[in-house]
Amino acid sequence: MSSIITITPNPCVDKNTTIKGLQPDKKLRCSKPVFEPGGGGINVSRAIQKLQGSSTAIYPAGGHTGVFLNKLLEKENIKSIVINTKDYTRENIMVVDELTNKQYRFCMPGPLLTEDEWQDCLHAIESINDVEYIVASGSLPPGAPVDFFGRIAIIAKNKKAKLVLDTSGEALKYALREGVYLWKPNLSELSFYSGFNEITTDIAFEAAKKIIAGGMAEIIVTSLGAAGAILVTKNIAERFVTPVVQRKSTVGAGDSMVAGIVVSLSKGKNLSEAVSYGVACGTAVTMNPGTELCKLADVEKLYEQMGSINYGDYK
Ligand SMILES: Nc1ncnc2c1ncn2[C@@H]1O[C@H](COP(=O)(O)OP(=O)(O)OP(=O)(O)O)[C@@H](O)[C@H]1O
Ligand SMILES: [Mg+2]
Repeated sequence: MSSIITITPNPCVDKNTTIKGLQPDKKLRCSKPVFEPGGGGINVSRAIQKLQGSSTAIYPAGGHTGVFLNKLLEKENIKSIVINTKDYTRENIMVVDELTNKQYRFCMPGPLLTEDEWQDCLHAIESINDVEYIVASGSLPPGAPVDFFGRIAIIAKNKKAKLVLDTSGEALKYALREGVYLWKPNLSELSFYSGFNEITTDIAFEAAKKIIAGGMAEIIVTSLGAAGAILVTKNIAERFVTPVVQRKSTVGAGDSMVAGIVVSLSKGKNLSEAVSYGVACGTAVTMNPGTELCKLADVEKLYEQMGSINYGDYK
């Protein structure tokens, strides 16, 4: 198996709790919180571990929340390279209202990264030898330059590593400008980048083809929530249909999907098999409540039931 690193510029500690009825102005009594490590790349590393793969997570961390984040990851045996920061790692709050079964996710902006700190993150990536996959995922904290992922794209090219990108907004534009190996948008991220107000599956195929023709990505896997995903490369246009499951929580679906794709590729599976496995991982997450990631047994079962349709037939 080839080696995988993940980079999470804006990690967090997720504090999960429940209430019985969301109301303004009142004291809301919460259940005992459960703490979990979070942030795009960190979740990808945690999901890779659940899939019996291995990766190294690179992330900045500071303050008592940073120390806590490191401990939570050590407990899960995630290998990591930590860049110490002056400012505190953020804590996000996830609240499930048990009366409505709705989840509220309060996400903080993240600490201010100094130039030395974000440069150290980049140097950490540069310093690792023999990397085949670099997964860059999540938002940017204040202080990080908007072209942070674009700089990682350049490092990946120099190292002959394959960059897998899952981010949004302006940071995404700067990364795609440099060109990436695989981009995993959802439909709204693809429509934001392509300039469509509304995007259908048909338009998504065309939009992805255009981006690939422009050299911004070699592979685009657009996730469609319960409708599965579409894979587009220069030569492939394929839709993956996922089995219907009883959905509990979709938190972490995108990150687990990325983990499934990268683990499969690193084990030498072909692209269609890898995306199919990734979709099974995303769907497996939705069978669990809260922020729990995918279980290997669910993934294996779903993978056997996965369907795919060549776009030519699908259309
Ligand atoms: N309701 C659902 N039912 C079944 N599978 C789902 C559902 N939602 C998500 N998935 C699975 O997870 C994958 C990724 O989901 P989605 O398209 O919601 O990604 P995302 O918007 O990037 O998610 P995230 O919020 O984690 O970033 C889908 O391709 C699918 O396999
Ligand atoms: Mg996502």
